[in-house]
Amino acid sequence: MPFAFLLFTFTNVSFYPPKINQRFSDAKNAGKLTDANAVGFGASFVCGSFVRFFLHIDQETKSIAAAKFKTSGCGYAIAAAEVLTEKIVGKNLTELHGLENKDLRKEIEAELELFPGNRAHCLAICFNALHESFADFRTRQISEFAGEKALVCTCFSVSEETVEQIIAANETETVEEVTAFCRAGGGCGSCRFLIQEMIDIRQMENW
Ligand code: FES
Repeated sequence: MPFAFLLFTFTNVSFYPPKINQRFSDAKNAGKLTDANAVGFGASFVCGSFVRFFLHIDQETKSIAAAKFKTSGCGYAIAAAEVLTEKIVGKNLTELHGLENKDLRKEIEAELELFPGNRAHCLAICFNALHESFADFRTRQISEFAGEKALVCTCFSVSEETVEQIIAANETETVEEVTAFCRAGGGCGSCRFLIQEMIDIRQMENW
């Protein structure tokens, strides 16, 4: 087979499925956001790649004004980060419904088609970076909070006292139950671990 033909063949065959390839080769949100106020990092022990998310969240409206990412990952990671950043821009924190990984995966796969099992870590690093970004924003919000009662959920301004009262009065056993009562945990989801901890402490006290 002539060398020129071989070269033509290889340069025209993508290593990735078409939708992944299209997002990977035209990643509009790749890069750093200089005015980010929420930054998160995700890394994989499987392949050693990492991703960093940069979000700018409007302090007044609590909507995501801009999102970008940087990654050392493969085309799958780049495509997933591109779709995720695209989907969250313009959303208000109160519209995020706790950001469960299974829902995020559904959204990404609706755009890019199913990720094979050996690429699950490409998604996982993006999810971790996104969750960490919102946790970072929550930490910054709490450090600037000047109110009297400690906040648990900054997305819905729900205090620790309110969550404690709800858990005690209703014997709630899950974060979802607490969310149903006061909306805490139903935004970016970064307070959910704290709500779960409060439920666990209450249950241990009742033992
Ligand atoms: S801090 Fe975002 S859902 Fe509670």
